[in-house]
Amino acid sequence: MLICRSVSECRKAVADMRHQGKRVGMVPTMGFLHHGHMSLIALAQSHSDAVIVSIFVNPTQFGEAADLEAYPRDEDRDLAMLRAAGVSVVFIPDTDTMYPSGDETIVETTRLANMLHGQIRPGHFRGVSTVVARLFNIVQPDIAVFGEKDYQQLQVIKRMVADLHIPVHVIGAPTVREHDGLAMSSRNVRLSSDDRAAASILSRSLNIAEAAFPDVTVGEIHQIISKTIASEPRAALRGLDIVAAETLETLEGPVSGPTAIMISVAFGDILLIDQRVIAP
Ligand code: PAF
Repeated sequence: MLICRSVSECRKAVADMRHQGKRVGMVPTMGFLHHGHMSLIALAQSHSDAVIVSIFVNPTQFGEAADLEAYPRDEDRDLAMLRAAGVSVVFIPDTDTMYPSGDETIVETTRLANMLHGQIRPGHFRGVSTVVARLFNIVQPDIAVFGEKDYQQLQVIKRMVADLHIPVHVIGAPTVREHDGLAMSSRNVRLSSDDRAAASILSRSLNIAEAAFPDVTVGEIHQIISKTIASEPRAALRGLDIVAAETLETLEGPVSGPTAIMISVAFGDILLIDQRVIAP
């Protein structure tokens, strides 16, 4: 497994793979890998001949400096997991490489980035699209895999790729869950044991909402989720959006087409997200 830290090393590694006629898959990550990431890598491997994983904790997508500081990191462990998974190349740039001194270019999906979770975390999706555009320019993969758990992020990236004519096929990967249904996330390790036990309320509320389909209105889904989350005293519902699955436009009245339910729930200062796409 090749480890690249500079743009030129990374470009050379990709050029070598292409020279061997390989289709290149990419999985961008912020490290501290878990089973969820490994499932993205497995999916990328099934769509390509060689996979490159990037590890970069992107400062521009964090609102609070404290959140960025607190983000867990363990490069040695990540590298061992990537080696065991048969990843070909790991790209680990530093901040000066991704944001060279004097840089001033941002990439923003103006509508998608500033709605829903984008209103709770202003600037977050602009940071994501800016760094992913830069990573795509450096690596130029044929395909790239992102988790469906970060559903709005996936739609932002698909929109950006379409709008900027970036020649990469973006694939969404199903969410990997713990035994009790909690979506895997690097944030889960920061939960206290009581909050960790309570956090299965996110997926349970989505299960209950899904069971009510197809004869249900948007207002009723709202009530089901709010009531279920409120039944768990440790959880505070921070965001609940019931939207058209592709455009993320807010829905009203009886549910008809593919619908995405997106929730964000706080346990103390830790915000967890989950989502479900339901095609009635
Ligand atoms: O989902 C993530 O881990 C990050 O948002 C991403 C896509 C790697 C961009 O920094």
